Amino acid sequence: MITTVTLNTSIDKAYSIEGDLEVGTVMRVTSCIDNAGGKGLNASRAVATAGEDVVATGFVGGNNGRLLCELLEADGISQEFVQVDSETRCCINVLEPSGRSTEFLEPGRPVTNDDLARLAAKVRELALRSSVVTFSGSAPKGVSTGVYATLIEQAKIAGASVILDTSGDLLARGIEAKPTMVKPNTDEIAQLLGRTVSTPEEVVDAAREMHTSGIDQVVVSLGSKGALMACEDGVFQGTPPKIDVVNPVGSGDTMVGTFAAAMARGLSPVEQLRFAMACATANCLTPSTGHFDLETADRLAEGVRIEQVG
Ligand SMILES: Nc1ncnc2c1ncn2[C@@H]1O[C@H](COP(=O)(O)OP(=O)(O)OP(=O)(O)O)[C@@H](O)[C@H]1O
Ligand SMILES: [Mg+2]
Repeated sequence: MITTVTLNTSIDKAYSIEGDLEVGTVMRVTSCIDNAGGKGLNASRAVATAGEDVVATGFVGGNNGRLLCELLEADGISQEFVQVDSETRCCINVLEPSGRSTEFLEPGRPVTNDDLARLAAKVRELALRSSVVTFSGSAPKGVSTGVYATLIEQAKIAGASVILDTSGDLLARGIEAKPTMVKPNTDEIAQLLGRTVSTPEEVVDAAREMHTSGIDQVVVSLGSKGALMACEDGVFQGTPPKIDVVNPVGSGDTMVGTFAAAMARGLSPVEQLRFAMACATANCLTPSTGHFDLETADRLAEGVRIEQVG
């Protein structure tokens, strides 16, 4: 089983409007699609699509929290959330006919120390039953940047492998607990290391440096250029097959969920990379964020090129 932890869940609302977004006017919304959101929930759906058992945990509260649980149930995801008094946030994506989009991301409303303690206990309980625990995304307002380090320790004590996918101070503090794997993109690893990470050599050096600091698998995702992984077997560059992208949003989340699925199956790091890259690339071929077709991914896997570069 795989557990996904989403501290900052949200109801993601996709608003379609008829013309261009005009600031300072009244805009009528022609259709509104609600989705159970937060990066960890995209990862949960990817685990389920890959065919592994998954349980989603994190914080939910209020009417939005109830709606989120219903939406996730409709997606077929088992859930063991920690209920809190604060209302789950909404994030709104306004889509114009031109394809341009504008996002409004509410901050997650504050949670209490008791809520955090209940979540730590829940993570430990679920980790005892899980081979992999993933931690994705941001945290509600006011939560300490050390939150992931604390939760990762709980998961590791329970014997699970851990994947961390976050950014900024949450990533900087989170890696102190030595997760099994991290999946920064180039912006996230550059911010973490405080230097530019753009040339292929810079990406290799950055991934190797993090691996040497005690993280088993460092996967730097490079968008359409694929991903680079530093692990005990060496440094590997994965290149995806050429595709006509429909919607790349959530590809990193798909990658995290499907890496977890491949880890749970005991695949080697290189085979994990091939599978996760094929699924992440398949995610780019569907319009809905964080959804992919497993047969398409299986076909794409044959076209994923992996070469050892270090
Ligand atoms: N245009 C593309 N063509 C093929 N594969 C892609 C493309 N964009 C992304 N991918 C696949 O998805 C993986 C993750 O993408 P990316 O590096 O954009 O993650 P990210 O920035 O974390 O995304 P997000 O946070 O929105 O989920 C890449 O390593 C690659 O395998
Ligand atoms: Mg990402």
